[in-house]
Amino acid sequence: MPVTDPRDDIPSLTRQAAADELASLADAINAANTAYHRDDAPTLSDAEYDRLKRRNTALEAAFPDLKRADSPTDRVGGDVADGFGKITHAQRMMSLANAFTAEDIVDFDAGIRRYLGLTGDAPLSYTAEPKIDGLSLSLRYEDGALVQAATRGDGAVGENVTANALTIATIPQHLTDAPQVLEVRGEVYMRHADFAALNARQEDAGLRPFANPRNAAAGSLRQLDSAITAARPLHFFAYAWGEVSEPLAETQSGAIARLSALGFDTNPLTEVCKTTEALIMHYDRIAADRAALGYDIDGVVYKVDDLALQRRLGFRSSTPRWAIAHKFPAERAWTQLAGIDIQVGRTGALSPVARLMPVTVGGVVVSNATLHNEDYIAGRSSDGTPIRDGRDIRIGDWVEIYRAGDVIPKIRDVDLSRRPSDAQPYDFPTLCPDCGSAAVRDDGDSVRRCTGGLICPAQALEKLRHFVSRAAFDIEGLGAKQVEYFFGDETLPIRQPADIFTLQARDDKAVAKLENRDGFGRTSVKNLFQAIDEKRTIPLNRLLFALGIRHVGEVASADLARHFGMWEALVAVVDAAGPAASAHRAADAAEAAARAAAADAGKRASLKPVRDAAWADVPPDAVAAWDELTGIEGIGATVAVSLVTTFQQTAERASIDRLVAQLNVQAVAAPTQTDSPVAGKTIVFTGTLERTTRAEAKARAEALGAKVAGSVSAKTNLLVAGPGAGSKATKAAELGVEIIDEDAWIALIGEA
Ligand code: IVH
Repeated sequence: MPVTDPRDDIPSLTRQAAADELASLADAINAANTAYHRDDAPTLSDAEYDRLKRRNTALEAAFPDLKRADSPTDRVGGDVADGFGKITHAQRMMSLANAFTAEDIVDFDAGIRRYLGLTGDAPLSYTAEPKIDGLSLSLRYEDGALVQAATRGDGAVGENVTANALTIATIPQHLTDAPQVLEVRGEVYMRHADFAALNARQEDAGLRPFANPRNAAAGSLRQLDSAITAARPLHFFAYAWGEVSEPLAETQSGAIARLSALGFDTNPLTEVCKTTEALIMHYDRIAADRAALGYDIDGVVYKVDDLALQRRLGFRSSTPRWAIAHKFPAERAWTQLAGIDIQVGRTGALSPVARLMPVTVGGVVVSNATLHNEDYIAGRSSDGTPIRDGRDIRIGDWVEIYRAGDVIPKIRDVDLSRRPSDAQPYDFPTLCPDCGSAAVRDDGDSVRRCTGGLICPAQALEKLRHFVSRAAFDIEGLGAKQVEYFFGDETLPIRQPADIFTLQARDDKAVAKLENRDGFGRTSVKNLFQAIDEKRTIPLNRLLFALGIRHVGEVASADLARHFGMWEALVAVVDAAGPAASAHRAADAAEAAARAAAADAGKRASLKPVRDAAWADVPPDAVAAWDELTGIEGIGATVAVSLVTTFQQTAERASIDRLVAQLNVQAVAAPTQTDSPVAGKTIVFTGTLERTTRAEAKARAEALGAKVAGSVSAKTNLLVAGPGAGSKATKAAELGVEIIDEDAWIALIGEA
């Protein structure tokens, strides 16, 4: 199967054929917009959607007079379901870490024991229950009355779907003998039989069927008209809780029993297990029952039963340490590889995407899959070891697809016996398909990247999409689709983030211009400008994350923002660190060369002089700036180099400076101030801790607003020293740092 460019055949099309095709493209794209924006039930993959859009644009360019009144190029998104108010969750809604094998579960249990300082044979019980494949919902009851229902959203802020939740029969509207405040969390789902009946009704009404029960449940819950939700049979299983004015129980299983007594459906397959073997046995039983359950599940969730231990274990950035989702194995299927497309991402990475002959994998039609990178296609991993025994993947090959849950399908194998005789090894492009710039690979990196930076339209657009995403600027009414529209617009273009904030000022007729376009009414334009203005004031961490700098994700952005507080402080240090970042990179390269040379000569390389030489001429203020950056808890050399080099790139820097000039960047407060005596202090732990573990002590200290450092310096306020403390205690004593033992520490934080 050859890959065809969506524009290849256009010169030979008749006007009639082009007009017919434009009509069907308008139908298909507009329907996909509605499904995506209004019904929350995407009917096309992003790649397929993009392909239709590209084809439509190419046809319109070739036949400008055939452009239709309902042309999808003029539409900004669909009928966005923006009628829901936002609700900030009193307690964040977390997701779960995943496990796939019994070994992962043994590791999970061992990790918990290590964190809590429990021996391998100390009793430790877990609950095990099905992982429901629906969407999570938080129900808030006050004085027994259901007052609010919110979707998960990004975990911090969800959508207010109270009116819809009130129509779900298995959600009680009144509770008796419940705590005064009680947030019940669980999963809204649709049963298989109800899903089949709903799809039959959809088809009878000439509407598109839903792809699976989960999309149907999501689409039904997120209806602006609650009468529609009421007509859709949804159910709810309670499995967790948020804010509670008094504890539900002392154990997870007790709390679930209490929720059941209050009138909630809880899953009957929930069990308490005392060993990892018992967890796996229960998993096997649930897996065996899976097909007969009547609703979709995608794994089994294990939770530490003792709630006091759950509290001690706490959370990572978005997942609890005390729970894990043991997912069912991925579903598989064989199909033929029709072509390979290259997508260019925000940081310039060229990602190969497999175009497949459509095949059903676990109930979902798959026509695209990721091929990871150049080496993966060639059958080797980045260190040169063979994958798939070295078998490469060629266009025309039969390949095995697998997908687990809602992750992007992947290719796991290729069948050489069915390879077409004319199949050629795949030539990975060395020029960016979007801007023609050289695409290069750094040493040791399996990813090839476009070097075009902001001149590359694909990178610029992806950066913009990231910029407006939820965890970044999250501008109401300006999502990925709208940004794409403005990106291609000739009169009022948005090509860089700063353009968003100059949109209105650039042209005082902007409002009138926009109002005349499909998808934009007078009020929506007004609302858009207001939403943009609201985001001129932005916390430093969000701004940093929004810049989309490689390796600078949400966590690193928060770490940097907490440390520097203000934008100017950060920029000063990042700029000053320039020569040091270059030295660091030069030192890495020189070290690698020295290692290789030594290995050839069969000798041990002496690396210190090599590194020292690279650093020899770095001015002291650059070294100090570098030390400050890399000394921030959570920030290593990789993040630091990426930040510094991004700020050094002229076009990139100009774009950032233009943006910041439009904004009022809010300082981020240093670690949460609690009234604990350790708040704001820098603490070092050393020696053996006997009553908690190092990890737990660190997490507790941070939760109380302290900063935990790895080594003692003049900035250290307190050293907690257990038995066996060595050089750190000596150094602390020399520096006059206060030293206490573990008992004193526990008394200090009020947990004695
Ligand atoms: S517990 C703090 N239990 O899975 C832990 N989640 O992949 C909260 N889910 O966002 C989640 N069944 O929407 C939990 N029995 C179950 C679940 C479950 C389904 C969903 C939930 C969560 C997602 C994480």
